Amino acid sequence: YHTSGVSASLKEYEPCHQSENVDFNWDNLGFGLKPADYMYTMKCLEGENFTQGRLSRYGNIELSPAAGVLNYGQGLFEGTKAFRVEDGQICLFRPEHNAIRMQIGAERMCMPAPSTEQFVDAVKETALANRRWIPPTGKGSLYIRPLLIGSGPILGLAPAPEYTFLIYASPVGNYFKEGMAPLNLYVEDEYHRASPGGAGCVKSITNYSPVLKAQAKAKCSGFSDVLYLDSSNKTYIEEASACNIFIVKDNVISTPAPSGTILEGITRKTIIEISRDLGYQVDERGVRVDELDDADEVFCTGTAVGVAAVGSITYRDKRVNYNMDGQLVSQKLFSTLVGIQRGVVEDKWGWVVKI
Ligand code: COI
Repeated sequence: YHTSGVSASLKEYEPCHQSENVDFNWDNLGFGLKPADYMYTMKCLEGENFTQGRLSRYGNIELSPAAGVLNYGQGLFEGTKAFRVEDGQICLFRPEHNAIRMQIGAERMCMPAPSTEQFVDAVKETALANRRWIPPTGKGSLYIRPLLIGSGPILGLAPAPEYTFLIYASPVGNYFKEGMAPLNLYVEDEYHRASPGGAGCVKSITNYSPVLKAQAKAKCSGFSDVLYLDSSNKTYIEEASACNIFIVKDNVISTPAPSGTILEGITRKTIIEISRDLGYQVDERGVRVDELDDADEVFCTGTAVGVAAVGSITYRDKRVNYNMDGQLVSQKLFSTLVGIQRGVVEDKWGWVVKI
């Protein structure tokens, strides 16, 4: 069979041809796609290991119509960001966790995965090749999107015969159109995001399009995003479409425990660690939907989302509004996270990787 590749017409990486600066208005960056100059591609056959990745100009890829990813959704994605810190240096944030999560997901989806070193090196190369698209400090970041797809053709349901690891990037600002304003969430109890034994705990591409309908319905009614319930009992909150969820009550921070249906976000993990370090008790446990009624605060976390305060949650026609006055726990956590990422709060954990 024909192993499809990056189109031969794509220009190879020409580092010397790039200027450091780009004439671009960095103000009010949202989360739209503004593809950065270069992408990274690495391929392997089923049963083999990835070798020899390369950068090329960003562009369309050639794919067999019978590719496993197109027909059976055999694919994973990741999300990580490159930042410019106060001294102008470029940094990544805990990229090895994205590599490990991709390996766990690949095992679940019967795909080979790049090693942690290959993954992190590829993310670094992509970030550096696209450095002129990393926004100035405080204006946003370069969102880096690694993909692992079954790119080889397959007709019967089986793992694809060839895999492609791809990375592209785009400068981004706030994920939600609300910007930094509090989110209004809608609790969905008809459609579910994940079910026990499914792939909800890995970043399978198949977790995302099934929630578009619930998301569209919620957005039509003016909500920012949907909060999903556990599909077995419709009793426990799980996560929102693109981020994890936390509640705060009497200085105790709680977040749904990973139970196979929740994506273990790297920002989620980081916020748990920062919270404990700041002296909060953090419980990873089943969080009942009725606990939202008397929470002091609710917030969401994610790579794309950052830390976003929730202003209201609507469940079965009942809307609970949260008090946004005073110093919010979520604000304190967010400014600590951003401070570490910008190099103004000591990174005692070694999370920031200078490149
Ligand atoms: C991220 O936060 O990086 C994600 O992958 C969520 C995505 C739906 C934007």
